[in-house]
Amino acid sequence: MRVVVLETAKQVNEFAADVVCALIGLRQQQHQPTILGLATGGTPLGLYSELITRHQSGKISFSNVDTFNLDEYVGVAPSSPCSYHYYMLENLFRHVDIDLTRTHVPQTYDVDLSESASRFERQIEQAGGIDLQILGIGVDGHIGFNEIGSSLGSRTRVKTLTHQTRSDNARYFESLEHVPRTALTMGIATILESQSILLMAHGAGKAQTIRNTIEGPITASVPASALQLHPDVTIVLDEAAASSLSNKEYYLESERNRGLLSRSS
Ligand code: F6R
Repeated sequence: MRVVVLETAKQVNEFAADVVCALIGLRQQQHQPTILGLATGGTPLGLYSELITRHQSGKISFSNVDTFNLDEYVGVAPSSPCSYHYYMLENLFRHVDIDLTRTHVPQTYDVDLSESASRFERQIEQAGGIDLQILGIGVDGHIGFNEIGSSLGSRTRVKTLTHQTRSDNARYFESLEHVPRTALTMGIATILESQSILLMAHGAGKAQTIRNTIEGPITASVPASALQLHPDVTIVLDEAAASSLSNKEYYLESERNRGLLSRSS
């Protein structure tokens, strides 16, 4: 795993935006669409706002981009401001030149959930798989809504949210009681099939989870630790999120060497 520790959350957002823009640029040169996996929540907001800025200054186009979101709450209408459909529209899609018919957020409202989950998996497959999956991480170590105990071989399905996750996300709802109890989420195996993965984390509240993810054992008790199995994962952290890492000096040295190697090649 590549672990990148930067001083500020702003630098984390810019780093992530550089990765997304470089990929879209490369795929454009290859005359291929870019298939992005997207996350919601507080973490990627700075990334999305950076992408919007770069789009508005003509540096990036989403006209040949397909997107697949990690998850959606069950029972929340797409038009509700609490839904992830709405979040994506407000925080990214309506500000850029993306074709909305090429954006996919799991369907969970008034549908057969198991059929919806299979269709979502099929759509990813038909698109040729995800080139880059953006991830945040829950305080309990979830990615997507793969909560503690999620099978490392899991695919898109309904999961029950933990009390911790519901409390963390209560800020987006009227009260804790209004936070849905279940969500449809890509599985861990679905996420691990992405060509490359970029996990972002900001703030001291994520420090212990980040340590468990990177330096702990691979375990369903910390679902994000499954990322250790993937050959192309980058974890980009601000100082606070990196503050519990035992091998932080080593990660910093690896990044310095990476810079030296790329300059000498
Ligand atoms: C959201 C998602 C979740 C969040 C996680 C962190 O689509 O899949 O795994 O990334 O709950 O949320 P924030 O960023 O709000 O701390």
